Amino acid sequence: MPIRINGSVEDLPADPRVSLLDFLRERLDLPGTKKGCDQGACGACTVLVDGHRILSCLALAVQYDGCSVVTVEGLASEGALHPLQKAFIEHDGFQCGYCTPGQICSAIGMVDELRRGVPSLETADLSVQAISLTRQELRERMSGNLCRCGAYSGIVEAIQAYAEAVL
Ligand code: FES
Ligand code: FES
Repeated sequence: MPIRINGSVEDLPADPRVSLLDFLRERLDLPGTKKGCDQGACGACTVLVDGHRILSCLALAVQYDGCSVVTVEGLASEGALHPLQKAFIEHDGFQCGYCTPGQICSAIGMVDELRRGVPSLETADLSVQAISLTRQELRERMSGNLCRCGAYSGIVEAIQAYAEAVL
């Protein structure tokens, strides 16, 4: 089965040792997904696979045979930025921008987890249907995405604004 990257069918690498991150950046020329630590500690490489956020540096491309991968390059639609991309601009959610693609992909996956009622360490009541995105929930759920510039206040505002609009 082929892998789909931002809607395009692509052949998987012949070498099964190629990470999904290197496949995206080096073989498909999609540099939007960033390589920060390359060991699962920073979140810069986050992409969406069948709607779920994953760290592409810890994944092998061949694992995702038959799956649909969306990177930051695939979020805009018909020339219009994704609403969360717009929110990052409106709320000044970045400085250098290196962490931003990972922050955005991760937050889209995170909001979908909320929509599906997936609890976090901060969720006190596991029986509630709709988990609200409190500041603590947001901090916990986005704790895997680091920003060395410390643009956290804008990042949090952007994600909150997006979540309020779509949840
Ligand atoms: S590059 Fe994947 S978590 Fe840092
Ligand atoms: S904006 Fe520079 S690392 Fe986050």
